[in-house]
Amino acid sequence: MDLGIKGRTAFVAGASSGLGYAVARALAREGCRVAICSRNEERIAHAAGRLAGEAGVDPGSVLPLACDVTSEEAVHEAIDRAAAQFGGLHILVTNAGGPPPGYIDDLSIETWRGGIELNLVSVIQLCRAALPHLRVAAASDDPHGSILMITSISAKRPIPSLYLSNATRAGVQGFAKTLSEELGPAGITVNTILPGYTRTERLKNLSERLASASGRSAEEIEAGWAEGNALRRIADPEEFAAAAAFLVSKRATYVTGVGFPVDGGWSKHVL
Ligand SMILES: NC(=O)c1ccc[n+]([C@@H]2O[C@H](COP(=O)([O-])OP(=O)(O)OC[C@H]3O[C@@H](n4cnc5c(N)ncnc54)[C@H](OP(=O)(O)O)[C@@H]3O)[C@@H](O)[C@H]2O)c1
Repeated sequence: MDLGIKGRTAFVAGASSGLGYAVARALAREGCRVAICSRNEERIAHAAGRLAGEAGVDPGSVLPLACDVTSEEAVHEAIDRAAAQFGGLHILVTNAGGPPPGYIDDLSIETWRGGIELNLVSVIQLCRAALPHLRVAAASDDPHGSILMITSISAKRPIPSLYLSNATRAGVQGFAKTLSEELGPAGITVNTILPGYTRTERLKNLSERLASASGRSAEEIEAGWAEGNALRRIADPEEFAAAAAFLVSKRATYVTGVGFPVDGGWSKHVL
């Protein structure tokens, strides 16, 4: 299916690796020009080169930006720079690293504040910075404006060891739903995408940390995760990215205000 986004411009945050990288690559393969950001200049520059090669696109259509999404100033600067370089912005994908795991007695208030900055406030900052550009794109002769927030299945069903994720993702879901109502009349869609267990650096770190805390092996932890979903396996980032690319595309212009799980059937709700 042609997603209808050839020549569109996208900003994907947290994209030097993992899910963000896979989404940026999927969009580049569809013909989007993509700005990608992460904290580390070297990592993001390397990711941009790799991405252009893997997607088979002109390196000039992938813009690497060093930007910590917890910094309001850096976020505004990065998004304005992407829009200036590409002549506008149609698509924003919010993302960042995951917060540390831990139970109630493990997490200090400072850690809580850091997690909220990383996984909730950053999303709000990215949207605030992108909105002026998205409004212009959505009001143009060939309108298109779309926001997709990467959250987690923990927003639907809290995961016991992931307090910070459970709490911040639920906040993002509430923010997204509210924003979708306000931006609907302007023709901008706002959705969230909820990854289930997907093979990335983050997942590897998480299984290793839980393994050392529980005395089980990382393989046993991951096998347990796989058993919990209907497909009985961990996802490949490309499978996640395909759904994300659809949600920000011209094929999904009547989809807004939804939280879309890509979890292999981990959510057990009927709807
Ligand atoms: N993988 C899964 O199974 C899974 C499941 C549910 C939810 N999630 C959530 O989905 C998100 C992405 O996960 P992932 O597995 O792709 O993680 P990952 O492999 O650790 O990748 C995280 C990306 O975000 C960047 N990043 C981290 N902190 C940042 C910051 N402050 N500002 C800008 N960029 C930042 C990292 O690059 P730099 O280090 O270069 O900054 C990296 O590119 C996380 O929030 C995670 O909790 C993942």
